[in-house]
Amino acid sequence: MNLLVIGGGGREHALAWKLAQGSGVNRVYLTPGNPGMAIDEKLECTGIAAGEFASIASLVKEKNISFVVVGPDQAMADGAVDFLEAKGIPTFGPTKEASRIEWSKAYSKDLMRSAGIPTAKYETFDTAVAARKFLTEVEWADGWVIKADGLALGKGVVVCSSREEALKTVDDFLAGSMGAAGKKIVVEERLIGREVSAFFLCDGEIGVPLGLACDYKRIFDNDEGPNTGGMGAFSPADWVEKDFVSRVGKEVTKPLLAAMKSRGSPFKGIVFIGLMVTEQGPKVLEFNARFGDPETQVLMPLIDEDLLLWLRAAREGKLSTMPPSGPKLKKVHGVHVVLAAAGYPGTPKKGDAIAIDPSLVSPASWERNSVKLFFAGVAKQGERLATNGGRVLGLTALAASREEARKKAYGELEKIKFSGAQRRTDVGR
Ligand code: AMP
Ligand code: GLY
Repeated sequence: MNLLVIGGGGREHALAWKLAQGSGVNRVYLTPGNPGMAIDEKLECTGIAAGEFASIASLVKEKNISFVVVGPDQAMADGAVDFLEAKGIPTFGPTKEASRIEWSKAYSKDLMRSAGIPTAKYETFDTAVAARKFLTEVEWADGWVIKADGLALGKGVVVCSSREEALKTVDDFLAGSMGAAGKKIVVEERLIGREVSAFFLCDGEIGVPLGLACDYKRIFDNDEGPNTGGMGAFSPADWVEKDFVSRVGKEVTKPLLAAMKSRGSPFKGIVFIGLMVTEQGPKVLEFNARFGDPETQVLMPLIDEDLLLWLRAAREGKLSTMPPSGPKLKKVHGVHVVLAAAGYPGTPKKGDAIAIDPSLVSPASWERNSVKLFFAGVAKQGERLATNGGRVLGLTALAASREEARKKAYGELEKIKFSGAQRRTDVGR
């Protein structure tokens, strides 16, 4: 059996690597993939861009691909699943309409409000006058968060500690600083608490848990500096209360799926729920309609089953035939640390040669030492790999405790060098 993963970053590397371990899997193609993925024998990068749906459909025919998994949010929002399914190609992920819970924050907030899902208080606006009036009148003790409605590569959210900053952000967004994504905005109450992300695999009717992860969004240690796509992650989140996952299932996933179904766009795929654990319990910060990056790089190595069986059951609406507790997870801890290029999250420097100790790219690294390298922003430079994007690569280590996994991950990362490499030193601490 041949499979296809759409996308080319670390998340897609982890998905393709995990799928390749399934029984009966011959090859996993990627569109586009990246040249670092060649470290894994069954993976094959095609260079076809994630948005070229017609070329992807041709590839599926040509390579006899029987199942497609969509990675990036943009592909979902552009209708990759609708396009491929209409051609009779079994594709895992939500339709364009179902992924609206991610690509419109105003839509997702309205859905949460009407379905009674716990979330921060908010209002939506499309004129600066109305938003400014609201901001000067409303009293929220802990501050304001301004969000662009549309997809903005993680840059569309500003947590404001003063009213002045909130007013200025409103003006900037509505004056076009976020492009079309910021034509509409959400003004939201700032929540105080600790963040965790919950992943549920959904089949339109029910959802099963796929794990919890905590990520590191800021570029520098102690959550300082600008936001990034994510500089690292760990799983499981060992600090939440015992019944946390079932509580999120009951209070969030269940009403979400019921609301989507009644709106005529049942949600099939992965829902990635960003949560703030507040004194009043968990509240939803956002929904994503896909796997997280870098959360996936820590979750995939922890899954102790054939992932394809689960993704197929979800696409076919048959999760009720699988164990309700979801795929089995290994009883160990995972820590994933990203190495980013100089300049990231601004303009990343490209073209620096990457030196990697050969032991890290051999299958034994995973098989004997539970250490796995995933590539993202890399290009071929002669026979070597060179930096070619913001987040260049990342490394996951598993061990009996989070602290051990953390030490192992940082120890192994020493075997990789490139000029100007940036990493956080506090992932998993
Ligand atoms: P989002 O893309 O909505 O998850 O927002 C990105 C980040 O902004 C989150 O991970 C939080 O750190 C922060 N954030 C978003 N909404 C809120 C809120 N209502 N209160 C506090 N922080 C928030
Ligand atoms: N790590 C955050 C995201 O994938 O959106």
